[in-house]
Amino acid sequence: MPNAQQAPLKIAVAGLGTVGAGVLKLLETQGSLIEQRCGRRIEVVAVSARSKGKDRGVDLSRVQWFDDPVAMAAQSGADLVVELIGGSEGPARDTVATALETGKHVVTANKALLAVHGTEIAQKAESRGLTVAFEAAVAGGIPIIKGLREGLAGNAVSEIHGILNGTCNYILTEMRTTGRDFADVLADAQALGYAEADPSFDIDGIDAAHKLAILASVAFGTPVDFSSVYIEGIRQVSAVDFDYADQLGFRIKLLGIARRTESGVEQRVHPCMVPVAAPIASVDGVFNAVVAQADFADRVLFVGRGAGAGPTASAVVADLIDIARGRSTPTFGVPADRLGAATPSPMEARRGSYYVRLMVVDRPGVIADIAAAMRDQNVSMEQFLQRGRSPGEGVPVVLTTHDTDEAAMQRALATIAASDSVLEPPRMIRIEQF
Ligand SMILES: NC(=O)c1ccc[n+]([C@@H]2O[C@H](COP(=O)([O-])OP(=O)(O)OC[C@H]3O[C@@H](n4cnc5c(N)ncnc54)[C@H](OP(=O)(O)O)[C@@H]3O)[C@@H](O)[C@H]2O)c1
Repeated sequence: MPNAQQAPLKIAVAGLGTVGAGVLKLLETQGSLIEQRCGRRIEVVAVSARSKGKDRGVDLSRVQWFDDPVAMAAQSGADLVVELIGGSEGPARDTVATALETGKHVVTANKALLAVHGTEIAQKAESRGLTVAFEAAVAGGIPIIKGLREGLAGNAVSEIHGILNGTCNYILTEMRTTGRDFADVLADAQALGYAEADPSFDIDGIDAAHKLAILASVAFGTPVDFSSVYIEGIRQVSAVDFDYADQLGFRIKLLGIARRTESGVEQRVHPCMVPVAAPIASVDGVFNAVVAQADFADRVLFVGRGAGAGPTASAVVADLIDIARGRSTPTFGVPADRLGAATPSPMEARRGSYYVRLMVVDRPGVIADIAAAMRDQNVSMEQFLQRGRSPGEGVPVVLTTHDTDEAAMQRALATIAASDSVLEPPRMIRIEQF
């Protein structure tokens, strides 16, 4: 039975932006429910952000203010520091380090920090008997970290794949449903607040790669290895690819995929064609989804909102409640000094099928040359689509392949790109048959 007399868990919150203010609001709204659930209150004793005067929509009058989050981490007298500033370096990293060095637990939503320094942070925390919790860092409101680390703790997980960036999923969904171009839809997403003014972290796949590196560590019990993630964003996906995908029975999604293979651990983020019947194919808009392939539980699918004040605050507060209850698990599911090193599998070793779109001059022999370039690399074509004829001019040609090696595919594409009948760099999207 929870002990109603237990002292409150005192927390200090660094960062009062979308997530920080969301956490304070949730704690205010759900105070009694949280107290009932964990037998003690969660009390905000200190906060820090850049601008003290900004209205955060919450009452901060009884909370100590710090201009410097690192000083707050050291001096606030809290039991736990919540880091919601963001970024892999600078104040976020220093705040977390100081919190741990001064004996405080840490809760963070910062995927960039964990992707780059996760193993070192876990070692620092665990060597001091402290907890670092980060449910909010991956897929916002979806409890995927707990799902993997606790819910599937009795399983060996062989693969994780997912839609890990809501901005990209929104853009790809809009492109498919409206037929509009990437640039046009991106501008809309920025106006609606779904994409940042500088959208590159999202659309170039880096944000998804941060999350994938964390998921792979939790799924496979390996150190976080962001530098081994192959990353390709969605800038090259064109409106016409959605028409062809439809004809071929696919949807286009930016996926993060982590898989144990014979050649090591694959970690990659890139646009994929997935069969329309795959559950993940129908996860649209800003929603995220993660699929785990586990040996006893089999396939498990998680879907939900990957960002926003409410869903992200929900994940942060779930971590706070765990700590208030005295629950603790090793940061990445395996104690940090026992995470087993993994050999990264190079992208060239990927095996699978491919969609290729070419713009070629419509003249005799061109298709035969393309087929020869494929044949010379042992790449076998499965389907071939050519729309209309326009002798002497450029026409789009689309083909799909049977399973082949990425290295062979890249060599075939290099030969095709060098042909003077090919007017634009070939566009290739990998097909994943989930
Ligand atoms: N937004 C989401 O939906 C979402 C979802 C999942 C995870 N996350 C992660 O959550 C974290 C926070 O994201 P966010 O969207 O809430 O960011 P945000 O709205 O930009 O808020 C960042 C906060 O940090 C404060 N800050 C920045 N530099 C500081 C410094 N040197 N000292 C003290 N405070 C400083 C800012 O202060 P001012 O307000 O005074 O400028 C602001 O309150 C990031 O790691 C992000 O990746 C966000």
